[in-house]
Amino acid sequence: MSEPVPKPVTASTRLAAVWGAPIRHSASPAMHNAAFAVLGLDWRYLACEVEPERLAVALEGARVMGFCGVNLTVPHKRLALEMMDVLDPSAEAWGAVNTVVFEAENAEGVWTPVGLLKNFRGPVRLRGYNTDADAIVRSLREDLLMEPRGARVLLLGAGGAGRAAALRLADEGVETLWLQNRTESKAVELAAEIADRFPAVDVRTGLPDSDVEFILNATSSGLKAEDPIPLDLEAYPVARADAVYDMIYRPSETPLLKAAREAGCRTANGLGMLLYQGAAAFELWTQRPAPIEAMRAALVREVYGTGEPR
Ligand code: ATR
Repeated sequence: MSEPVPKPVTASTRLAAVWGAPIRHSASPAMHNAAFAVLGLDWRYLACEVEPERLAVALEGARVMGFCGVNLTVPHKRLALEMMDVLDPSAEAWGAVNTVVFEAENAEGVWTPVGLLKNFRGPVRLRGYNTDADAIVRSLREDLLMEPRGARVLLLGAGGAGRAAALRLADEGVETLWLQNRTESKAVELAAEIADRFPAVDVRTGLPDSDVEFILNATSSGLKAEDPIPLDLEAYPVARADAVYDMIYRPSETPLLKAAREAGCRTANGLGMLLYQGAAAFELWTQRPAPIEAMRAALVREVYGTGEPR
């Protein structure tokens, strides 16, 4: 099948981007540019290395240059909260911004994503969203065939990604949530926050004393070949879970996922999460249904295209 040809860049081309530090590993440009091409949109998506101390000035630049949207990744997601003009409830609830929609007033004075406006004058405002948290739950459902509601879950990690996952799973109505983190105090702190905000959830720290429906790895251990498995498999054999999800997608199979597959668990990696957060951002900027399969194919090509995890 031939690839759709992107429209040539002109003075009217609309711009979106992902900012982070480091950013060169990002697969988001491939995913979004494929989506623009397949829908015949005159848009481009770039990746820019932005240091955290320059985030505010970068946002001001994008505001005055007519950017339509920006994704934020490590280390910007929490910092950006105070730099938005408006926070969507998703950003408020999960305490992080990964998607910025630039808005201006349309002819009727209604704030509208600038990507939908041909000409606009007047101020541009920044509305911050979080599309990561919903993407976790969507990927668990679609890629792991796992329903969080009523489930017993072991969550590994209590950093930024672990916190968002824990809060979102609690909101989804998991029955019991075990939080396991290398630095125990962070798991204890997160458990206290969950207990306070979601009293119906039975939240504990450490390893489960029962089988669980699924284990979710939200640590960064597994990104490098020499990383240890972030779970003591002697203390808690992975076969005690029906399924294992690893937020890491490069390599496609971490040592944890390999152990889980060999133990007969269903497994999924984090590519779906990356895809669904991107698809939701795309829809916020363009107000068009995201071409999910084209985006997934572009991601798979970009991330695994060489046949070797990069
Ligand atoms: P992110 O935004 O990706 O969550 P982070 O906030 O730096 O990044 O969190 C990284 C997570 O991976 C933490 O839970 C960290 O554990 P600590 O809180 O003890 O630092 C976890 N992690 C990183 N390397 C690990 C390793 N080798 N073994 C186990 N956990 C690890």
